[in-house]
Amino acid sequence: MNIVLLGYMGCGKSSIAKELASQLGMNSLDLDHYIEDQEKKSIAQIFKDHGEIYFRKKESQYLKQLLETYTNHIISLGGGTPCFAGNMELIKNDATSKSIYLKTSLEELVNRLFTEKEHRPLIAHISSKEDLKDFIRKHLFERSFYYNQAEHMVSTDAKNVKEIALEIKELLF
Ligand code: S3P
Repeated sequence: MNIVLLGYMGCGKSSIAKELASQLGMNSLDLDHYIEDQEKKSIAQIFKDHGEIYFRKKESQYLKQLLETYTNHIISLGGGTPCFAGNMELIKNDATSKSIYLKTSLEELVNRLFTEKEHRPLIAHISSKEDLKDFIRKHLFERSFYYNQAEHMVSTDAKNVKEIALEIKELLF
């Protein structure tokens, strides 16, 4: 079985994947890192050189590759992965994958992302916290349709990665 973690940028997908993997004695894989390794460029550089449409095509292609190649992995997606190219359908139809939506409040996302937005191409240009909040609010509204199709939802607010990983373990096993 693979466990697929999804949710908005800054919800903690990668660190929770690592923690959950260590608690379960499994390996973790991060789709963004996989794309960077395969393309030999950072995500920011891929956006800069080729634009978002190219990135979304590659993202979908590598997601398929990961799901076909790996078993018994905790896979963390990019924030936008479930929302493009039929990716959420692919995950839902994959009998060997369990999907978890890591849900984080708008306030917490804004606080986390404001200090680390530079390497995130979709929000790097937003300069004030108020503008970032407006952007995320609208974006979350559009994306929730896809995120809510995950098999399980875990709220991450006011919890540390260990607690969140434990909660996921209890949900699944
Ligand atoms: C994106 C999220 C990023 C990365 C890319 C696009 C998005 O991943 O895939 O910058 O559309 O939300 P993280 O959620 O890991 O930051």
